[in-house]
Amino acid sequence: MQIIHADIVYSEDREHLAVHPDSYIAVEKEKVKGIWPVLPEEYKSAPLTDYGDGVLIPALSDLHVHAPQYLNRGLEMDLLLADWLDQCTFPMEAKYADPEFAKLAYDAFVDDMIANGTMHACVYGTIHSEATSYLIERMDQKGIKGFVGKINMDRSAPDDLREDPDESIRETEIFLEKYSKNRNTRPILTPRFAPTCTRELINGLGKLGRKYNAAMQTHLVESLWEAEQARLLFPECSCDTEIYERAGLMENGPVIGGHFIFPSEDDIRIMKKYDCYAVHCPDATISVIAGIMKTGTLLDRGLKIGLGSDISAGHHIGVYTQAARAVQLSKLKQFYEPDDNRKITFPEAFWMATKQSGKLFGGTGSLEPGAVFDALVIDGLSDAARKLTPEQVVERFCYIGTKENIKARYMNGEVLFG
Ligand code: GUN
Ligand code: FE
Repeated sequence: MQIIHADIVYSEDREHLAVHPDSYIAVEKEKVKGIWPVLPEEYKSAPLTDYGDGVLIPALSDLHVHAPQYLNRGLEMDLLLADWLDQCTFPMEAKYADPEFAKLAYDAFVDDMIANGTMHACVYGTIHSEATSYLIERMDQKGIKGFVGKINMDRSAPDDLREDPDESIRETEIFLEKYSKNRNTRPILTPRFAPTCTRELINGLGKLGRKYNAAMQTHLVESLWEAEQARLLFPECSCDTEIYERAGLMENGPVIGGHFIFPSEDDIRIMKKYDCYAVHCPDATISVIAGIMKTGTLLDRGLKIGLGSDISAGHHIGVYTQAARAVQLSKLKQFYEPDDNRKITFPEAFWMATKQSGKLFGGTGSLEPGAVFDALVIDGLSDAARKLTPEQVVERFCYIGTKENIKARYMNGEVLFG
């Protein structure tokens, strides 16, 4: 048992933050036991860590991030999706054929993710088995709860990134076999997106999904170009999402669909039927996709939505920045298309980045009793002339905070050093 004293903020539900100023939280093994304004007598002998005015919040979840693109963050952001993939992204991903290069890049990626408070993540690798194996091993060893996928693509990619479909399936099965029993970071099927996958490849992945009860991530209706390509290349399907449904890929582990910016009614129906998560990646949307998710409307219609950094279409690895950007973009969307859009509130954005996404990773993303204690202490955001309330500290952190404002990080109830 350990006790932490701080201001405590987490999502009560979609619309409300739970705020416990100047309170004590008891953590037993890796779980929250309770929160009190005055420490109960029975806990007075337990070790106490006092963060004073620091604000304790749940650690963040990044539901869409490309580890190999970490070295491209903040570069070539004036291109749009198809050109950005060809000119910027694919040449970088091809370098991961070299395992030594991959190690150097992936070590930095994983460290920066944790430094920025992300402890749960759905991560894309590249097509390369050796490099992607290193990534999943590294994340698992560091205790990050989540998924890593070896990307599959067998068309419309440069020669050095285009796989033979049989070979792609074989390598993916080896990856699933090897890592399905991991403690923290597990494998996930990762057909990149419809334009770079044939029906043969997607059906092969469907068989693996059933055999290993595997999760699946991909990019869904992310741009008008991509949605049109999906319809042209898979004319038997009414929408992008149906391509994966037909292969049986939605019936196994969790399904996480990046972007979901131009969904048809069929896309929405299928996502809801299988309880899938759509991922809003605001910076990526601004920089290379140029479309805005109907976040408020989709939330009101009961779709599960989380947030993603989408490095390097998005440029910032801290998901807290994406919570702020999601609020900003929802206002633009409502302004330009008022009929079918509603702006979201800050509590909704924070909930997407914590409690709503944390359900994917075994009961974390909250600080309520019973939650797995993955948490951050943030500080240094008030002004001398204006002391902020705990919920204002959290909001300001998402708008102008940096990793320097994260004073402590807890994973499974244990403090991380370094
Ligand atoms: N669509 C297919 N591949 C990618 C990628 O790497 N990033 C983004 N944002 N969209 C994609
Ligand atoms: Fe992406």
